[in-house]
Amino acid sequence: MAIFYTKNAGETISLAEAYAKTLKPGDIVLLDGDMGAGKTVFAKGVAKGLGIEEEITSPTYAYMNDYDGILYHYDCYRIDGYKAEALGLTDYFYGNGVCLIEWSQNIEELLPSGCKRVVIEKISEEERKITL
Ligand SMILES: Nc1ncnc2c1ncn2[C@@H]1O[C@H](COP(=O)(O)OP(=O)(O)OP(=O)(O)O)[C@@H](O)[C@H]1O
Ligand SMILES: [Mg+2]
Repeated sequence: MAIFYTKNAGETISLAEAYAKTLKPGDIVLLDGDMGAGKTVFAKGVAKGLGIEEEITSPTYAYMNDYDGILYHYDCYRIDGYKAEALGLTDYFYGNGVCLIEWSQNIEELLPSGCKRVVIEKISEEERKITL
């Protein structure tokens, strides 16, 4: 476990970009943190690190955005395990893309073992503590 402090969103993106290089196909990363902590900002950095050029937007209403099968970005704030499974959203957990999951606690029972975790905590308006 390593702890980092970032002073703005740009620094979080850079950190996430470097973190992406440590990921392997099929990895599942749980992005933990309160609303507005910076989970989606972190996801933008991971996408950049994985070479994805498409703009990363919050999947809040779509539940999951698929970036060419390389990255699957989930936002489970408005979903539960039953619905996620019914929609087939769990299939990608067993594929070769990297899965990033915001609000994973809402689908906890569906998560395979061995998930990685990133915890983002708001220290002040622009400072974040990020545990990788
Ligand atoms: N150091 C920082 N790291 C990340 N984001 C920061 C930082 N400082 C300020 N911000 C701002 O905080 C906000 C984080 O928003 P973001 O959408 O990433 O949060 P989230 O954790 O995904 O929230 P939600 O649970 O609602 O999806 C952005 O507006 C971003 O610019
Ligand atoms: Mg978000």
